Amino acid sequence: MEKKNIDWSSLGFGYIKTDKRFVANYKDGAWDNGTLTEDDKVVINECAGVLQYAQTCFEGLKAYTTEDGHIVMFRPDLNAARMKDSCERLEMPVYPEDKWVEAVAKTVEANAAWVPPFGSGATLYVRPYMFGSNPVIGVKPADEYQFRVLTTPVGPYFKGGAKPITIKVSDFDRAAPHGTGHIKAGLNYAMSLHAIMTAHEEGFAENMYLDPATRTKVEETGGANFIFITKDGKFVTPKSNSILPSITRRSLMVVAKEYLGLEVEEREVLFDEVKDFAECGLCGTAAVISPVGKINDHGKEICFPSGMEKMGPTIQKLYDTLTGIQMGKIEAPKGWIYTI
Ligand code: PLP
Ligand code: COI
Repeated sequence: MEKKNIDWSSLGFGYIKTDKRFVANYKDGAWDNGTLTEDDKVVINECAGVLQYAQTCFEGLKAYTTEDGHIVMFRPDLNAARMKDSCERLEMPVYPEDKWVEAVAKTVEANAAWVPPFGSGATLYVRPYMFGSNPVIGVKPADEYQFRVLTTPVGPYFKGGAKPITIKVSDFDRAAPHGTGHIKAGLNYAMSLHAIMTAHEEGFAENMYLDPATRTKVEETGGANFIFITKDGKFVTPKSNSILPSITRRSLMVVAKEYLGLEVEEREVLFDEVKDFAECGLCGTAAVISPVGKINDHGKEICFPSGMEKMGPTIQKLYDTLTGIQMGKIEAPKGWIYTI
């Protein structure tokens, strides 16, 4: 199959219209069969639930070209399960998990020409999402919903690719205690927009959010979870019920333990102990693993010994192993790779 004529290596993390997208509608208590369409426009009522009360959630995963030319996805079943959790928390109908994976696979297949070639540094980002589509004016869930899957080829999430970034401790919260921080609700990202603009204006790439109840524990950034490496080589990642359970992080915990033989701790991480870690990174589908070189806490800097030039040695190993598994260069644990 002929690939699109794109300079894959210069792609940033942005939207490019691809050929096909999947659309299914929920009405009278049931989903229709859904279909692939070329129409990239959504037409909904002016009073649609999503427009008035932000009733929407989404997922993010990637399709890759392996070294031997197959198109694969990484653990899409976990995205399907997480979207189920998001829908249930937002009083939205679940799109059945097996059908969800099927719809995502069909959409990727229909856009195979847009899946960046092996070794290009780019991937096809897949964005399944759902929203309340019928008019709602009293505060209540919609009765009708649309589930869509769009795809767009992407490069690195942070400018500069694998160079360490500097982040700041945010004065804002992205989630509330007992709120929606653990699901992928659009509203969480609306919450984070002012905070990210503030961080950017001050020259930082991202925010480190602390726990909203006590502001003493590390949570996550606007779009990725944290991982840390201790000076004695342990893998540490924060546990909290107000962060998104990252599929990348759950996978890295396995990679760290089973492939690299590291001790793995998923636990509460006090902000006060961050200064003692040797390496820090952000992990997620979009971020992959982006190294953090510096954290600014209201003018006080935490500088990781791994510096601002390159990834620390352990995070580099985690990155190489994870991306090796995703791209089919390293054998994956059973069930991790879904071949289109
Ligand atoms: N945290 C937030 C807030 C995110 O938006 C994402 C992205 O999906 C992640 C973490 C990373 O999750 P995953 O590894 O499943 O992409
Ligand atoms: C992802 O990593 O898939 C996300 O949804 C994060 C988003 C901020 C781009």
